[in-house]
Amino acid sequence: MKPHVICHMMAPLDGRLIVADWSPSTGHTEEELVAEYDRTHEAVGADAWLSGRKTGEEFSDGIDGKMSAPGEAERPVRVATSDAEEYAVIVDKDARLVWKKAEIGGAHLIVLLCASVPDDYLAALTAAGASYIVSPADEIDLFSALDILASRFGIKRLMLEGGARTNGEFLKLGLVDEITYVLFPAIGAKSGTPAIVEAGEDGISQPVRLKMTSCTPGPLDNLHIRYDIVR
Ligand SMILES: NC(=O)c1ccc[n+]([C@@H]2O[C@H](COP(=O)([O-])OP(=O)(O)OC[C@H]3O[C@@H](n4cnc5c(N)ncnc54)[C@H](OP(=O)(O)O)[C@@H]3O)[C@@H](O)[C@H]2O)c1
Repeated sequence: MKPHVICHMMAPLDGRLIVADWSPSTGHTEEELVAEYDRTHEAVGADAWLSGRKTGEEFSDGIDGKMSAPGEAERPVRVATSDAEEYAVIVDKDARLVWKKAEIGGAHLIVLLCASVPDDYLAALTAAGASYIVSPADEIDLFSALDILASRFGIKRLMLEGGARTNGEFLKLGLVDEITYVLFPAIGAKSGTPAIVEAGEDGISQPVRLKMTSCTPGPLDNLHIRYDIVR
């Protein structure tokens, strides 16, 4: 069992990831563009969103700081709540992010970690009120994490919201069901900056076939394009 996974991203014509680099080209502020991205997120609808460690850092209380508390650490899963209205899932393999809270913008925090995470880090997450899933080995097992998100937290629709590496990992593993793309009339053109999906030198070995299901104009001259992934 896994949630329906929808990759939701915003980009200019050249597909570049870092919004601050291309937002001036639209004539709108970055905040206005992100508000349109959030509006389309709401329109698609999901009961959870997931991001990688780098994107997650933007919502955290720091990186590589001390995060430790006494007490027992539940393994491999801690479910602080299973009836949240929304969940924010952050992939943080090496337990680098600091969390002093259990929510991001009202969404209950679930952290995905690997087996080497120390007990005192898990105890600190517990003290903050957050939930977590510890993978059995030194890499995150996204298949089993998605299974647990569905079975233990009741998540049915998960919005995958970057960054590039995390999207690439999910697409490589065939875990994405739908892509929704907010295309802005802008050009980034900054060499060396990532595109919205990065999957290393080999790319995604199985070609991803897409079928457009809708294309809706937005208020900022943008398009909101939805694609199903054809299996
Ligand atoms: N345009 C948009 O719509 C949009 C949306 C979201 C984010 N962004 C931007 O994207 C940028 C970040 O993107 P990014 O590609 O550099 O980073 P990212 O995908 O947010 O995070 C990458 C990190 O996540 C960890 N990770 C991902 N998959 C993993 C897996 N399967 N197993 C273990 N760890 C995994 C790794 O962390 P470690 O390095 O710790 O191993 C990796 O370095 C930010 O600037 C953000 O603002 C843009």
